[in-house]
Amino acid sequence: MSFDSFDRLGAPPLGFTAVRPSWDELPRELRDFLTTHLGSPVVRADVQSGGFTPGVAARLTLTSDRVFVKAIPDDHVLAAKYLVEAETSGRLPHGVPSPRLRWHGTATGWTILIFDDVEGRHPDLAPGSPDVHTVASALSSMVALLTPNPIPGLPFASATRTHQLHGWRDLLLSPPRDLDNWEGRHLHALADLETRWMRDADGATLVHGDIRPDNLIITASGTTAVVVDWAQPCQGAAWQDITDLVPHLIMTGHSPEAAEKVLAEFPAWSLAAPEVITSYAAAFAGYWTRMSRQPAPPGVPHLRGYQRRAAAAAITWTMYRTGW
Ligand SMILES: Nc1ncnc2c1ncn2[C@@H]1O[C@H](COP(=O)(O)OP(=O)(O)OP(=O)(O)O)[C@@H](O)[C@H]1O
Ligand SMILES: [Mg+2]
Repeated sequence: MSFDSFDRLGAPPLGFTAVRPSWDELPRELRDFLTTHLGSPVVRADVQSGGFTPGVAARLTLTSDRVFVKAIPDDHVLAAKYLVEAETSGRLPHGVPSPRLRWHGTATGWTILIFDDVEGRHPDLAPGSPDVHTVASALSSMVALLTPNPIPGLPFASATRTHQLHGWRDLLLSPPRDLDNWEGRHLHALADLETRWMRDADGATLVHGDIRPDNLIITASGTTAVVVDWAQPCQGAAWQDITDLVPHLIMTGHSPEAAEKVLAEFPAWSLAAPEVITSYAAAFAGYWTRMSRQPAPPGVPHLRGYQRRAAAAAITWTMYRTGW
């Protein structure tokens, strides 16, 4: 990837956002554990550069099999997320389009997850791409399998997502100097607007909670979408995962109107009242605007650039919905 591939907001192209260790950079004990556990030498390791987490994410070719491995040091701040992912992935009902978790555990000081390998690519969400329909259809249809929530004990959306997805109220407390004209003029109204959806966040569905193109894989046939990275699940209202596509559709060239039109044919989209969607758009815009101003987490150099681009898309969506 060359520097030219970064956009004007400093975001790298989709799929090239993570900085991860190569197989050879891993501690020998971890490599030895994996080869012994897998019962085969690793013939080839393809590090996956989608996502942001600085842990191991590699497709491993074995002598007669393939697996996908994620791993992070036990003492890393994100290790708990890996355990949540293992707990969730291992309990998803049959039929949910997600890779089977083969094993998880800790060894040599690392938290390790081993999945079936999925051959494929990230979806192209540009206007006219058939992947848009494939992804929206997968997200809408999985609602039936995930309702009622099959994993008891998950936190509710009102205790997780609503604490995360907001920003304008926080920015209002101490408005940054570099807010643009529109953001500054509407800051009070945006701070009011971004809370309405929270009353409608709860529900009976298992919500993935982190739907982004790099957490979706279009399989080799080109007609099936698989959902990976179940590290932020909650129990909530069923409209959320499909609605999370909107900013990503805008980032890849849809107008807000076109993005919503694509989703309108899927039942999950119409479960939210229009004012809830408007508030949700504002909440995403606020969240990304707020987070993009934070210092970069260690080992995650591209997250803030991505969030600047995502904020711009969510603001475009909010402008469209509010007419402001
Ligand atoms: N079972 C799988 N088979 C093949 N590739 C996979 C599989 N699961 C994930 N991937 C690829 O690996 C990348 C990283 O995996 P994943 O999204 O699970 O972790 P992460 O990116 O570290 O987490 P985050 O998105 O929170 O940064 C994905 O973007 C995807 O391209
Ligand atoms: Mg991911």
